[in-house]
Amino acid sequence: MLKVDDRRTPLSRTEAGSGQAILFVHAFPLDGRMWLDQMAALPDGWNGIAPDLPGFGATGEAVSQPTMDSYADDLVGVLDDLGIARAVICGLSMGGYVALAMSRRHADRVRALVLCDTRSEADNAAARVGRLEMAQKVRQSGMQVLIDAMLPKLVSRITRLGKPAVMTSIEEMIRTTRPEGAAAALTAMGRRPDSSSVLRDVTVPTLIVVGADDEITPPGESQMMARGIRGARIEVIENAGHLSNMEQPASFNASLRAFLATLPVPAT
Ligand code: MLT
Repeated sequence: MLKVDDRRTPLSRTEAGSGQAILFVHAFPLDGRMWLDQMAALPDGWNGIAPDLPGFGATGEAVSQPTMDSYADDLVGVLDDLGIARAVICGLSMGGYVALAMSRRHADRVRALVLCDTRSEADNAAARVGRLEMAQKVRQSGMQVLIDAMLPKLVSRITRLGKPAVMTSIEEMIRTTRPEGAAAALTAMGRRPDSSSVLRDVTVPTLIVVGADDEITPPGESQMMARGIRGARIEVIENAGHLSNMEQPASFNASLRAFLATLPVPAT
C-alpha cells in the first residue's frame, strides 16, 4: 500500500551563491525574507538557502498540525531536493527551536549550528496557555492581533525609533503570514518539548548569537545554551533586540562570516 506522508509540504525558498550550504530558518511569524541581508553578504563559496516554513511566506498551508519535528523534516526535504548531504543550520528564535529538532532527529545532516535569539527550554504552563489563546485570536481576527502584540517586543528601542525601513519590512512579512499558519505554529511552539538535553549531544561547531536587548529570548538564555554545548561560542550583538540579524546586519554578518571561516572544509 502506498504510504502518504500528509505532513510534507514543498517549501518555497530563496537561494543565493553556490558551494557549501547554509540553511537559514526563520523566526515566528516572519518568513525566509528576514535573511536577505545575510544571503547578500555570504562569503564566496557559500550557498545560502532560506525556505518559508508551511503557512509562512510563499509556502502553502501545512496539511495537518505541524510540530517543530515536522518542520525539521520539511527542511530535510529541502536538503534532499537540492542534493545537499550536510548543511550549516542557522535558525533564529522559532528557527532555533527547529534547528535543535534537526539536531536531535537528523544529526547526520547538520554540519554546524548557528542558534540565534532562541532558547532550548520548553514553554511553561502559563506561556503555553497564552499561545493557545493567541492562536484562537489569530484564527478569529487575523494577523493584526499579532502585529499589535509582537511588533513592539521584536526589536530594540533603537531599531523601533531609528530604522523605519526595517520596521516596515518586519510588519509586511507578518502581514503575509497566513493566520492558519501562524495559529498552527503557535500551537506547535506551545507543545514543543524541552531541548535542553539535546545540547549535550551536539558535537558540531556551534555559534550562539543574541541581541543585547532581546526581550523575548534574553541573553541569559543564550548563555545557558552556550554552557550546555561543548565548545560553543557566543556573540552578543549590541543595539539589537530579538531580530538581531535584521537590526544590526553588519555586526551579525561579521560574526557569522568569522564563524564560517573556522569550519573545516568538507572532504569532496
Ligand atoms: C520567534 O521569534 O520565533 C518567536 O518569538 C518565538 C517564540 O515566541 O517563542
